[in-house]
Amino acid sequence: MQNFTYYTPTKVVFGRGTEAQTGALVREQGGKKVLLHYGGGSASRSGLLDRVRQSLREQEISWVELGGVVPNPRLSLVYRGIELVKQEQVDFILAVGGGSVIDSAKAIGYGAAGEGDVWDYYAGKRKPQASLPVGVVLTIAASGSEMSNSTVITNEEGWIKKGCRNDLCRPRFAVMNPELTMTLPPYQTACGCVDILMHTMERYFTSAQTMELTDGIAEALMRTVISKAEILMEEPDNYEARAEIMWAGSLSHNDLTGFGGDGGDFACHGLEHELGGLYDVAHGAGLAAVWGSWARYVYRSCPARFLRFALRVMGVVDGSGWEEIIEKGIEAVEAFFRSLGMPTSLRELGLAPTEEELALMARKCAASAGGHKGSARVLYEKDMLAIYEMAR
Ligand code: NZQ
Ligand code: ZN
Repeated sequence: MQNFTYYTPTKVVFGRGTEAQTGALVREQGGKKVLLHYGGGSASRSGLLDRVRQSLREQEISWVELGGVVPNPRLSLVYRGIELVKQEQVDFILAVGGGSVIDSAKAIGYGAAGEGDVWDYYAGKRKPQASLPVGVVLTIAASGSEMSNSTVITNEEGWIKKGCRNDLCRPRFAVMNPELTMTLPPYQTACGCVDILMHTMERYFTSAQTMELTDGIAEALMRTVISKAEILMEEPDNYEARAEIMWAGSLSHNDLTGFGGDGGDFACHGLEHELGGLYDVAHGAGLAAVWGSWARYVYRSCPARFLRFALRVMGVVDGSGWEEIIEKGIEAVEAFFRSLGMPTSLRELGLAPTEEELALMARKCAASAGGHKGSARVLYEKDMLAIYEMAR
């Protein structure tokens, strides 16, 4: 067991109708002038934005709006948000949407509270020293950004997708009504479920010593996500399944499923961020497309974890030896991804990258991570390239 700090300052307000409390939550945090930040239209079409506006009005909180956040949120909109916040003397940022809107809100919060170019924080040149407070009304269970210390932004100049991790950006509150996720297209529901599963898998596949309690929580979470995701493919309006998935999304990325460990592997996330940056693919689908290849490339470096996973999470019951059981576990994950309509290769993701493009992604991935990434097995540029090749 490693030393750890567990810090989850986000107040969670969970359940039906909770978006009506948004204005009161902003007021509780001392917000007087809000930037209402949202995506491309779903929150407007569902009537959610109007309900949120009403709750602000009821608390006599004024606001300005900036919509138009796209998946793999762009730096150019972040710059516009920072300008608007400064111009309008906004003191609270309210994200209504998913990971992309939340991450964009966090970036605006950093940019408005600090000096200089906000991209410096993502490029690793400087560390944020302050942030405006951010609150969230969550509309898709996926990224865990509603409780995480992370924000991921895509810089259109060079199509570079990079993350910045710092506790300053953890949202002050997260309103989570599972009913809001019932309007999601099945593809987005599936992408979200993969991402949630992966946030715990990234922490679970590690060569460091772990804690029995953490492993138990992680395994329960992974089994729950798999079983509820399967229900949602048949019954998208199943409230209980939506609720379990939504809460799993937050717990999977607020560090609960990794405490006492070494911070996790996160190589698949690194590999996916290059795909998202270059080809603008949905994050969850990109993860599904590379995971199987990553697993087959690394499992011999930490077989005990893969064996335990196959037996306790994927329910593999027989095999003629440890290696066969592990392979069956990997196959079971891929079968699960396919059952959600998710890809298990780059081709199934709709990509046919050239050798040069694969090499470029491997180079950027390694550089982004400072030369190497991973815990189950430490990966260097040549390993990353080999995994991209396998994933073709
Ligand atoms: O823009 P709208 O119209 O709202 O459409 C969105 C978007 O097209 C739609 N959507 C969201 N809620 C909906 C809905 N459609 C109908 N009904 C609803 N209730 O779904 C699409 C995807 O939204 P997005 O916010 O992009 O999804 P997600 O939450 O998966 O976020 C993905 C982003 O988060 C980053 C990813 O890299 C990616 O950029 N991540 C952020 C993390 C973090 N900050 O901790 C960790 C993750 O590992 C991840 O990297
Ligand atoms: Zn993710």
